[in-house]
Amino acid sequence: MADAKLYTNTPDIYKRYVKHTTQKQVLVEKIEQALLERFDFGLQKEFTFVDVGAGEGLVTIPIIQFLESKTNVLTSIIEPSPMIENFNSYRFNHLTLIQKPIEEVSIPQADFILCSHVVPYLNDSQNVVASMVSALKSGGMGLIVVTNNESDDAWLKKTLVDLSDAGMSTDIIIEYFKNLEIQYRIETVESSINVRACFDQGDDGQAIFLFMFKKPMSSLSPEELERFLKAMKGRANRNGELTKREDYIWFYH
Ligand SMILES: C[S@@+](CC[C@H](N)C(=O)[O-])C[C@H]1O[C@@H](n2cnc3c(N)ncnc32)[C@H](O)[C@@H]1O
Repeated sequence: MADAKLYTNTPDIYKRYVKHTTQKQVLVEKIEQALLERFDFGLQKEFTFVDVGAGEGLVTIPIIQFLESKTNVLTSIIEPSPMIENFNSYRFNHLTLIQKPIEEVSIPQADFILCSHVVPYLNDSQNVVASMVSALKSGGMGLIVVTNNESDDAWLKKTLVDLSDAGMSTDIIIEYFKNLEIQYRIETVESSINVRACFDQGDDGQAIFLFMFKKPMSSLSPEELERFLKAMKGRANRNGELTKREDYIWFYH
C-alpha cells in the first residue's frame, strides 16, 4: 500500500511537485468535458458531487466552480487530513466537509463521484469501490484515477527503485467491477512532468524526486544520484519533459 503521509505531512512539497506537471489541469478539462456529455444541466435542477480523498482541492475546486456555473450543486468532500481546511477559504453554496477516512463514511447518493489517486492508499479498496458504485444515483457517473504502469515516471521507478509499494493497478479495480456487474470504460490519458528542476538539485528538484521515487535526493549516494539523473535525462524529451499516463476508470449507473 502506498503511503499517504507524503501528501499530508509535506503539503508544500506536494504543491511544488504538482506545479511541474500538467496532470491536474488535464484531469479537470477531461472531467468538464465528460460532465457536459453525460448530463443535461438545463434540465437538472440539482446536482450532487462527492470527492473521495480530495486533498486540498486542486481538482475539486475548479470542478465545483464549473458545476456552480451550470446548476445548483451540492458537494461532499471526504478527506481525512487537515488539508480539507483549504475548502473553508472558498464560498461555495452547499458544501459538506467530512474529515474522515472513506472507510468510516457512508457515501451520500451522488450524480458524480470522483476518486483521484486515492485507491492505492486504502486498506480495503474493494469495499470502498463497491460503496462508491452503490452510491451512484440512476444516470450517475463515477471516475477513479490511477497511475498507468507505462507512465515514464512509473517506468523510472520500476527501473531504479524497489517498488514493493507499487501503486494499485487498473487490472485489480477492473476485477472489482466485474464482480459488481457495472458498466465501465477505461481511458488512458497523457500529461507531462517537466523534470529539469531535478538536474539543478534545488528545492523543486528535491520535491519532484521525493514524489517520483518516494526518496529525497539527499538520501542517495553521489553514484546513485548520478544514475537516477542519467536515466531521467535519457527518458526525457528535448524540453526536459517526461510523459505521465493515467488510467481514468469511468463507471456508470
Ligand atoms: C495523491 S492525493 C490525491 C488528492 C486529489 N484527489 C488529487 O487528485 O489531486 C491522495 C489523497 O488521499 C487521501 N487519503 C488517504 N487515505 C484516505 C482514506 N482512507 N480515505 C479518504 N482519503 C484518503 C490523502 O489524505 C490525500 O489527500
